[in-house]
Amino acid sequence: MGNKNSKTNNTDILVIGAGVAGLSFAIRMAEKRPDLTITVITKTTEKESNTSYAQGGVAAVWDHDIDNYKKHIEDTLDAGDGICDEEVVEVVVKEGPERVREIIEWGARFDKNKEGDYDLGREGGHSENRILHYKDITGWEIQRTLNEKSRQYPNIKFYEHHFAVDLITQHHLGKIVTKNTPGIECYGAYVFNKNNKEIETLLARVTVLATGGAGQVYRSTTNPVIATGDGIAMVYRAKGRVSNMEFIQFHPTSLYNPTGDNPAFLVSEAVRGFGAVLRTVDGKEFMQKYDERLSLAPRDIVARAIDNEMKLHGDEYEYLDCTHLDKDGFLNHFPNIYNKCKSIGIDPMTDYIPVVPACHYTCGGVDVDLSGKTTINRLYAAGECTSSGLHGANRLASNSLLEGLVYADRIHKDILNCIDGYQFKEGIPDWNAEGTTEPKEMVLITQSHKELKEIMSYYVGIVRSDVRLKRALDRLDLLFMETENLYANTIISPQLCELRNLITIGYLIAKSAELRKESRGLHFTTDHPDKFDYKEIIYL
Ligand code: FAD
Ligand code: SIN
Repeated sequence: MGNKNSKTNNTDILVIGAGVAGLSFAIRMAEKRPDLTITVITKTTEKESNTSYAQGGVAAVWDHDIDNYKKHIEDTLDAGDGICDEEVVEVVVKEGPERVREIIEWGARFDKNKEGDYDLGREGGHSENRILHYKDITGWEIQRTLNEKSRQYPNIKFYEHHFAVDLITQHHLGKIVTKNTPGIECYGAYVFNKNNKEIETLLARVTVLATGGAGQVYRSTTNPVIATGDGIAMVYRAKGRVSNMEFIQFHPTSLYNPTGDNPAFLVSEAVRGFGAVLRTVDGKEFMQKYDERLSLAPRDIVARAIDNEMKLHGDEYEYLDCTHLDKDGFLNHFPNIYNKCKSIGIDPMTDYIPVVPACHYTCGGVDVDLSGKTTINRLYAAGECTSSGLHGANRLASNSLLEGLVYADRIHKDILNCIDGYQFKEGIPDWNAEGTTEPKEMVLITQSHKELKEIMSYYVGIVRSDVRLKRALDRLDLLFMETENLYANTIISPQLCELRNLITIGYLIAKSAELRKESRGLHFTTDHPDKFDYKEIIYL
C-alpha cells in the first residue's frame, strides 16, 4: 500500500521555504493583499534554515561618506570573476539598502558603535566596511524578526513539517516556445505532511520557491541538514532551466572538525575582517604567496590557498590567529564563535583556531529574471536556490541575505500585477503511489547519501580535473539508477526524496563542471587552468 493522498487544498500563493527569501516575500505580499491566502511551508521548523545560521551580516552601502554604490558593484563584479549579470548587480546593490531599512523597521536589531551609528564590518573582497550585523548571529536575528512579523498577518498560513515533494506542472504542447515561456505551467506542489505521513495536493495560483542551497551534497559543510537542494532538483525535473551549478563556494574557515559534526561550525570571515590572520601549522603566514589582499582576499582564493597549503604539508588544517586582537572587542563581536571554541578547549585569545574549508554556498540554481520569474510560468524563485546573475562565478560575502530581500520585494511587485489573471487549475490528479511498499532497508538510503558525499568531496571539490569529473559522473549514474528504482517502488519519505534531490544536485554540479573547459572563480580544474576571454554561462 502506497502513501495516502489525503486532501486537496487551495491557496492563492504557495511559498515553499521560510528563510529570508520566503518569509520576507510573504510579509510584503500579505501586507498589500490581505484578501489573498498565502501559504508558507517549511520542511522542518520555522527556525531551521540557512538564514538562521548566517554570521557575518548583510552587505549594504550605508555610510555614504566612505562608501558608494560603484564600489559595492565593483567588488561584487570582481568576486564574480567576469560572469555576473551587471544589470542584476546594479539593481541589488542600489535597492539593497532600502530593503535592509525595511527589516530594521520590522524589528531587526543591528549592532551600533559608541556614537550610535551602525557598526559596519568588513569581509573578504569588500573594499569598504559595509556589513551590518548582529554580533556573530545576524541570521538568527533576521529569522527571529521575520518569524515574529509574519505572525501579524492572519492571511499568512504557516505549516511546519510539510515537505514539498514535487511541483505540479503541465507542459502545453503546441504552445509557442520562447526562451522565457517554454510552455510549462506550475499549479502548486505535492506536499508530504510529516505529521500524518500523507501527501497533500496544494494547488496555488502562483508558487514561489525559496528552498535555499544544497551544501549537504558534500561531506563537510556549514549548511544545516535542510540544505538538500530540493527546489533546484524539483525545477530540473519539471524541465525548468538551471544554470551556474559548477560554482560551489567553499568557505575558507570552518572549525576543524575531526569528529565529523554535521553541519561544520563556521568561523566567520568577519573574524578576518576584524584582523585575524591565517597561518600554517608551524605558525607562518602564507597568504602573501597567493594574493595581495592577504587573509581578506575573496573566498575562492583563500579557500584554494588553504587547500594548497594542507596538500603541500600534509596538514589536516591550517590556523587562524586571533591572539593579537583586542579581547573585549572580540568577545563583543563574536560571542558565539568564542563560546564554541572554548567549548572544545580552544581559547581564541591564547590559542590558534584550527580551520579547514567547507562547502558553504550554492552560487547557481534556478534561472530567474529580474522579477524572480523562472522559465516555468506561474513559478517564481528567490534566494539561494536561484541563479539570478548576482554572484557570477563566486559570491561576494554577505551579498546573499541582501539578494533574498531584494528579490522577495521584486517578486511581490510582479505578482501584484498578474495574480488576478490566474485561476486555480482544475482536474489535477491525486498523488499516485500505486504499487509502492514500505522500504525494507532504510540503511540503503543513508549509505547512498554517504557515498554521494564522498564522491562529491573527492572528485568535485575545490580542485577538479577531467578524470575526476568523469569518475564522479560514472558513479553518480549508478546511484541515480538505484535510487530511482527505490523511489518507484517504495512509500516515499523525506529522506528518500532528499537523497533523490541531492543526487540530481551532484549531477548538475559535476556535469556543469565538466562542460566548463576553463578555470574561473570557484571552478578550478587542473586540465584547463586558464580563463576564456569570453563569457559563457552553462545552462542545464
Ligand atoms: P534558507 O534560509 O535556507 O531557507 C530555506 C527554507 O526552505 C527553509 O525553511 C527550509 O525548511 C525550506 N525548504 C527547503 N526544502 C524544502 C522542501 N522540500 N519542502 C518544504 N520546505 C523546504 N549570507 C549572508 O549574506 N551573510 C552571512 O553572514 C552569511 N553567513 C552564513 C553562515 C552560514 C553558516 C551559512 C550556512 C550561510 C551563510 N550565509 C550568509 C548564506 C545565507 O545564510 C543563505 O544564502 C540565505 O540565508 C538563504 O536564504 P533562503 O531564504 O534562500 O533559504
Ligand atoms: C561569514 O560570516 O563568513 C559568512 C558570510 C557569508 O557567507 O556571506
